[in-house]
Amino acid sequence: STVDVEEASYDTEGHAHYLIKEIHEQPGAVERTLSGRVDERFATAHLGGLNLDAREARAFRRVKILGCGSAYYSGELGAQLIEELARIPAHAEPASEFRYRNPVIEADTLYIAVSQSGETYDTLAAVQEIKRKGGRVLGVVNTVGSAIARECDGGVYLHAGPEISVASTKAFTSTAVAFALIALHFGRVHDLSPADGRRICAGLKALPGQIREILADEDRIAKLAAEYAHNAGMMFVGRVRGWPVAREGAQKLKEVSYVHAEAYPASELKHGPLALIGPELPTVAVVPDDELVEKNLTTMGEIRARHGRVLMVGHTAPDPKFAEDAILIPKNEPELDPILLGIPLQLLAYYAAVALERDVDKPRNLAKSVTVE
Ligand code: AGP
Repeated sequence: STVDVEEASYDTEGHAHYLIKEIHEQPGAVERTLSGRVDERFATAHLGGLNLDAREARAFRRVKILGCGSAYYSGELGAQLIEELARIPAHAEPASEFRYRNPVIEADTLYIAVSQSGETYDTLAAVQEIKRKGGRVLGVVNTVGSAIARECDGGVYLHAGPEISVASTKAFTSTAVAFALIALHFGRVHDLSPADGRRICAGLKALPGQIREILADEDRIAKLAAEYAHNAGMMFVGRVRGWPVAREGAQKLKEVSYVHAEAYPASELKHGPLALIGPELPTVAVVPDDELVEKNLTTMGEIRARHGRVLMVGHTAPDPKFAEDAILIPKNEPELDPILLGIPLQLLAYYAAVALERDVDKPRNLAKSVTVE
């Protein structure tokens, strides 16, 4: 079933679809997620809604993040941010799996539920199960006053604004930004230095402008999407910081264009899926300029050697022997780069769906909010 949204009260404001309108709303959505929360003076983030004082925030030994679909993938980005900045072991799991497997709830684990709508039944059920067993749950939620928001012990609202298109874009990006704020805050109550905290504050403030720069490349990405859309499928690969981005990129493409997409950690290709690679299966490689760039180029070379076409999304133009096509985006801090790397993949999915004349805002078989089991 679908949550009632008065669609008539919002319009596409001259855009062909809500999806592309919402992709373009991201600079503003991210500004609102950040608004009043970045403290450059003390190099930290203020998140009053967490309802945790510094001593409580230090007491957690682990973080477990739960969500469904894209909310789960944004949770994977969040887990990585929390581990990198706060050095607290953090893991994301689909809420739909968690709730069915009689999970062990621990007093020194902080649980975080992620949901755009705040009404996803599997996520709500996971939250209720954690609370039943005495666990502490925070929500990272877009819809104020929603069921999940009400059920949690505290949390962070995204303030991304209403999201109408079934495929999540601005809520995904704002969730990743909210996790960066949470990670910065936890980092600063642990061992993140003031200098590193300031570096992250500056990186966060640069995000909206950098998203605008990426969106300015829309026409070129649209052309690439129209070319790639006509393949039988698409492989998405990434390593560590690029990996959740690749997963979400594949999800977006499947959802709106119905093109089959697989996401694999780049390092796993040789353990099986390399057998799929050939001229008929192009690969999108998510390659941030970090310490793994050489490893990623090697993987791209292996794909090219099997006549697979490669579209690289990253920061530095690759040698043509590694990729036919590249979408280059502005560089932020390494920890925050994944937030930006997802944006071109949204445009890629959108324009592939347009080229294939899909029902972009309401893909077949899907509902905006899955409020049933
Ligand atoms: C995202 O593009 C999908 N429509 C879907 O995976 C979605 O993220 C998922 O159903 C969770 O929704 P929620 O964030 O409202 O809980």
